[in-house]
Amino acid sequence: MPIRRQFPPRSLDAAALNEGRVDPHYTKVLLRLLAAHAMAEKLTALGYQRALATLDNPALRPIVEKNFAEEKKHARLIYHALEELGVSQQAADRSMIAVLKAPSFDAPSYFASKAEGELDLLMASLSLDTTGLIMIGENYRESSYAPHARAAEVILDEEADHEIFASRQLGDAVEHFGVEPVNDALRRWIPRAVNFFGPPGTGFTYDCIRYGLKSRDNEELAELYVTMLTRRCEQLGLEMPALTSTYPHSLA
Ligand SMILES: [Fe+2]
Ligand SMILES: [Fe+2]
Repeated sequence: MPIRRQFPPRSLDAAALNEGRVDPHYTKVLLRLLAAHAMAEKLTALGYQRALATLDNPALRPIVEKNFAEEKKHARLIYHALEELGVSQQAADRSMIAVLKAPSFDAPSYFASKAEGELDLLMASLSLDTTGLIMIGENYRESSYAPHARAAEVILDEEADHEIFASRQLGDAVEHFGVEPVNDALRRWIPRAVNFFGPPGTGFTYDCIRYGLKSRDNEELAELYVTMLTRRCEQLGLEMPALTSTYPHSLA
């Protein structure tokens, strides 16, 4: 049975929450969602920053610089929304310490701290920008919390560009490195990318959907991503790795 949505898109703002016009549990769920979103944007920004320091292909610099600047801006937008609700960046990040070790944060954490070279950069973009485009476009653009919906709109415009970069690069990578190294990189990254959507059917997601903070379950979005990427791999003669069916996914 579909979950009944209590608040329509963009129906609430910071004043409504700060003045106590809404169930405090709504605010609690929203703060957790925003803290996770902010952290994902920040780690992605750090990954692009790190890529700038380690990349040896100068042709990629302009686009990586652009992505770095935009991801920084995305993080700032979400931290700003948190601040409006009385939560500082430090407090938001502190609330994420345990979550950072979960499989759902493996992709952004790996990009921020361990990714090496051009293929990893491309895979990170496929794992974070393409997934981000789906999550933000499907879930947050219609958020009942107006400031998150507005931030999502700004972010989406730029993520669409990052996505174009990622899909173009995938074709270029096949030409430069050959099919096998790219297949190998896909096997290392795709489990992480799919886990980025998070576990299916949690109480937290149920609350998000009921409050209109998300519209779809993590699993549905993960399936959408796998379908999209499978098609893209087929077009390029690549092999989309098969994954185990339950979260956290690994190679089958
Ligand atoms: Fe972003
Ligand atoms: Fe992005």
